[in-house]
Amino acid sequence: MPKITFVTHAGQEHPVDAKVGESLMQAATSNLVPGVLADCGGNCACATCHVYLDASWGAVVSERAAGEQEMLDFALHVRPDESRLSCQIPVVPEFEGLVVHLPESQI
Ligand code: FES
Repeated sequence: MPKITFVTHAGQEHPVDAKVGESLMQAATSNLVPGVLADCGGNCACATCHVYLDASWGAVVSERAAGEQEMLDFALHVRPDESRLSCQIPVVPEFEGLVVHLPESQI
């Protein structure tokens, strides 16, 4: 169970014990992390699970699929190298210590 810390735009830290195989979004919502709304339930159709991942985690985080990129094109406060839809990222053991920041629009 990798320990992942979600940080709201206001700076509140929410550490969670994530389950390998669930999505980053599920790790947040099942632990009541504020700001990860996930309105579409993880179907890559709403962008309300938008998060920022530091580019230094690129080696262990799956790449954006085309559908994810299309949804991000409609999201607010997108950062070219850091924005991701957390429902599209499966948790892997290597996420131990991952810090996930939430954009200003996710409150
Ligand atoms: Fe809707 Fe991720 S939960 S796009």
